[in-house]
Amino acid sequence: MAAIKKSYYIKSRDFIRAGEASIKVQTLLKSLNFSPQFIRRVAICGYEGEMNVVMHGGDGSLKFAINPSELVIDISDDGPGIIDIEKAMQEGFSTALDEHREMGFGAGMGLPNMKRNADKIIVTSEKGEGTRVRMVFFIDKEGDGS
Ligand SMILES: Nc1ncnc2c1ncn2[C@@H]1O[C@H](COP(=O)(O)OP(=O)(O)OP(=O)(O)O)[C@@H](O)[C@H]1O
Ligand SMILES: [Mg+2]
Repeated sequence: MAAIKKSYYIKSRDFIRAGEASIKVQTLLKSLNFSPQFIRRVAICGYEGEMNVVMHGGDGSLKFAINPSELVIDISDDGPGIIDIEKAMQEGFSTALDEHREMGFGAGMGLPNMKRNADKIIVTSEKGEGTRVRMVFFIDKEGDGS
């Protein structure tokens, strides 16, 4: 498989279009015949990362790249950043506002879910410097990383 790279813009606080980037990734992976299990893991990670940019971050992007051995999703934003990454990774930790909770978000399960579903996750952030979440999914010899 030739290397494929894509980049999608994510607009902060745009709940109307939120989730569109991860749907595009999902559609592309389907067309490349990855297994439903693999696509599901990538889709969960893409969606949770995208929602975090919309809810907590600043404007940003979802970039993804596939090569024969791995798929990489890089979600970054220029928002306020995460003060304590270790804490943010814990199940149930959330700084979501009431308006987010009313929409069904704010369980503090996004980052833990991303950690569970990606083969590797690296969160880089600094207060005032934005946030970057890089997730790697290994692809096996059949071209299917499930
Ligand atoms: N891109 C980001 N920019 C700034 N803070 C973030 C970002 N992503 C996550 N955080 C911080 O990490 C916390 C935990 O994120 P996580 O996705 O696990 O939970 P949540 O978004 O609050 O709730 P849920 O994902 O379950 O709806 C957030 O509440 C927020 O404080
Ligand atoms: Mg979240």
